[in-house]
Amino acid sequence: MFSQGLVTVSYIAATMLFILSLGGLSNPETARKGNFFGILGMAIAILATIAGPTVTNYAPIILAMLVGGSIGIYAARKVKMTEMPELVALMHSLVGLAAVLVGYATYLDPAANLTGVEKTIHEVEIYLGVLIGAVTFSGSVIAFGKLSGKITGKPVTLPGRHLFNLGLLIGSILIGGWFLGFENHGGLLPLALMTVIALVFGVHMVMAIGGADMPVVVSMLNSYSGWAAAATGFMLSNDLLIVTGALVGSSGAILSYIMCRAMNRHFLSVIAGGFGTGGGTSPAAGAAPEGEVTPISSEETAELLREASSVVIVPGYGMAVAQAQHTVQEITKLLRERGVNVRFAIHPVAGRMPGHMNVLLAEARVPYDIVLEMDEINEDFPATDVVMVIGANDIVNPAAQEDPNSPIAGMPVLEVWKAKTSIVMKRSMASGYAGVDNPLFYKENNRMLFGDAKKMLDEVLKGLQA
Ligand code: TAP
Repeated sequence: MFSQGLVTVSYIAATMLFILSLGGLSNPETARKGNFFGILGMAIAILATIAGPTVTNYAPIILAMLVGGSIGIYAARKVKMTEMPELVALMHSLVGLAAVLVGYATYLDPAANLTGVEKTIHEVEIYLGVLIGAVTFSGSVIAFGKLSGKITGKPVTLPGRHLFNLGLLIGSILIGGWFLGFENHGGLLPLALMTVIALVFGVHMVMAIGGADMPVVVSMLNSYSGWAAAATGFMLSNDLLIVTGALVGSSGAILSYIMCRAMNRHFLSVIAGGFGTGGGTSPAAGAAPEGEVTPISSEETAELLREASSVVIVPGYGMAVAQAQHTVQEITKLLRERGVNVRFAIHPVAGRMPGHMNVLLAEARVPYDIVLEMDEINEDFPATDVVMVIGANDIVNPAAQEDPNSPIAGMPVLEVWKAKTSIVMKRSMASGYAGVDNPLFYKENNRMLFGDAKKMLDEVLKGLQA
């Protein structure tokens, strides 16, 4: 239906839309538009590819799209916001698996009869595509297991694991040489051997990563899945897939870098997979906090808020679990109407995925201009009357600064304990994602408001309205 020329023009349009999409997604105010550009670009890309000259048999494609599309719609409707990272990890694994399958299919394609340099280049593309795809696949499956709690969140490390990784790398390079020596699609054995090695590497790399470092893993696998897609693009000689894969790969790498900075990890050691145990010996390490915990009631909280002139709200994973964002917005509105300076402090790894808190606050229609990043607000805590920590824990843990043996030592945190009073809302004394005790709870100027965040905030709101 489409000529090759029309396909190319459509691909260029789709590429531009993808770039506009990424630009839009970088800011909450333009995110909706960015999302729309992405959807439009993908629709054009799919349509142009199917209508292009290389596709001749439509029935299987339409059937596969119906099945895949239905699963996608079902998953998107069913999955809870807090389960998003698991879903994303699963999707990354599918990109990896696709790269592996396309690699094998391309290698076995009887129509491809390249010789000389062309053959070598093509086979290197296949080899790299399968390698990156297999690492992405098994790494993402393990990440899914860890994020959903099916596999332990603690780092599982083998003795001499760096040497083991090095052995796997050297093995893959040597097998690659062996693979290139075969003629007429005869190199299936080395290809399969390398696939097994890559799968083992993916499992080993992600198993070794501790719970607190999972944000970096998710964004890193995001990047890997992009490179796997780009490799698939090379194998299939599809320019759009190469460009799109590179966009995903590089934006994932930038996100990984931002996450690394937020977690105080080194980017290069992340890429090498050697991270997650660096900050301490195990998640249980670090001194147990001392002192007394002072509980507070919702009425007293409302009283403190009523008297405050400056309030900072720190949302965390618990706000997402309790779905308390709408009540938070109502409290914010009420306080602002009474002339209180209310602002939000967002830690880069608050919640369970990048931008998690921003999405929830935007959904509840909290104005963007009072939602500040950690770096923008951290200096303002000493001049703040009340900080409300809503279902957050690791991101406000002073041990990151005060205890060099803590597993999260060195991670930048929101310095809420510097405010006049901090109120932590959570259901118990349980630790957060990183499994570390939090000395904030025992500080003299801290109060604990125990209970489900939504329920307690409803009570606080009632108290404020009274
Ligand atoms: P966490 O440290 O995990 O703390 C969340 C706290 O919320 C828990 O201590 C829990 O205490 C409380 N909570 C849970 N349900 C609640 C409810 N219904 N009502 C009130 N409180 C509730 O969360 P955080 O401070 O947002 O830090 C994020 C952590 O997740 C970091 O360690 C980060 O590395 C990790 N992580 C982040 C990401 C990204 S990209 N953001 C991805 C993966 C992992 P109770 O059980 O006592 O209620």
